[in-house]
Amino acid sequence: MMTVPHQLTENPVPETLHERYTRVRQASLGLVVPLEAEDMVIQSMPDASPTRWHLAHVTWFFEHFLLSKQVEFKPYREGWDFLFNSYYYSVGDMYKRPVRGLLSRPTVAEVFEYRAHVDELMSELTEGSKGDPEFEFLVTLGLNHEQQHQELILTDIKHAFSLNPLKPAYQNDLAASEIAESALVFSEFPGGIVEIGTAGGTSGQPFCFDNETPRHRVLLNPFKLASRQVTNAEFKAFIEDDGYQRNELWLSDGWATIQNEQWQRPIYWSQDLDSEFSLLGEIELDPNRSVCHMSYFEADAYARWAGARLPTEAEWEHVAAQHAISGNLSDTQLFHPGGSDSSTEVSQLYGDTWEWTRSAYSAYPGFKPLSGSLGEYNGKFMCSQLVLRGGSCVTPADHIRATYRNFFYPASRWQFSGIRLAMNF
Ligand SMILES: [Fe+2]
Repeated sequence: MMTVPHQLTENPVPETLHERYTRVRQASLGLVVPLEAEDMVIQSMPDASPTRWHLAHVTWFFEHFLLSKQVEFKPYREGWDFLFNSYYYSVGDMYKRPVRGLLSRPTVAEVFEYRAHVDELMSELTEGSKGDPEFEFLVTLGLNHEQQHQELILTDIKHAFSLNPLKPAYQNDLAASEIAESALVFSEFPGGIVEIGTAGGTSGQPFCFDNETPRHRVLLNPFKLASRQVTNAEFKAFIEDDGYQRNELWLSDGWATIQNEQWQRPIYWSQDLDSEFSLLGEIELDPNRSVCHMSYFEADAYARWAGARLPTEAEWEHVAAQHAISGNLSDTQLFHPGGSDSSTEVSQLYGDTWEWTRSAYSAYPGFKPLSGSLGEYNGKFMCSQLVLRGGSCVTPADHIRATYRNFFYPASRWQFSGIRLAMNF
């Protein structure tokens, strides 16, 4: 049986800003229901954060960037700006990210109280909103920011649980049905001068992050794009062909990384390549599901071994813009990659796994970061990272779009990131 794809449906009555605020904030609380307080305070590595920190940090975002602008504002607690600021240097100093797991206070219960306090004040503002575009943009930015952290909550707790010898499951009731095999075919695209990116974000346009702007022209040479993501079975064949032992397949930095880190297989795969750790605990490796938790280095080496390459972000977006946002996104609540349900058309563009592109994360021509401290949100990270596209099984469906640019360092592999192949012709 195939996974049921999520299809966004037109809402006959548009959601109000207040309704959206309530829904997104509630969704974060829903995600942590399966967790115990002990789960929410640990930090498994410097790149990951404790669940409690995520819950507090997204709340701080509303407190700092919206509530603090109100007359008679008083910080909820002295010192929490320092604890829950992430990387906004123009706001002030911050507690070091690699050691967020060392804090036992504030407690998880205190963070829930903090959320309730901020929600009460934010509800007064959103219910009384008179449609001020700047206010609505900031609230929407805060909600999109919270959705990014919802994905990180699941991604980070998966990593923490994977290190526990008891292999705890985040949830047990996942409908991990068997996925049918789907042929890999390549569709041809003629290329030419096309437009990518968006002009949106303010003035009544649909929300976007500043790094998606402006819309601009690019030249695409003719290219082929794979009909689906690379599967576990295909990646297993790469391993069995000594893929991790053959330096000619790897970028220089990738080869150095796998030597230093002693990587022999994907991060959550068992040594016998028969099972993988997931949010359901340890499960059998399904050959037809998308391979996940790839670093860029592994994705690139696989593509070279397969006689192909990774797509550019412009190629990916040009194709994705012609497809509806439909797929195994977090709304299915599977929280695990599925497989393709089509052997003829390009499928899985949205959901299952983020897809590495070969494009460096950089500014589009004419890019202007947001003004003030929020200008630190995206632009300052435009160095040494690669772009990923399409969202994953832990990305909310109303958070992703064709123009969305995610970005990570090439050695990062704890994210739900996978591979789609492309070729020249
Ligand atoms: Fe953040």
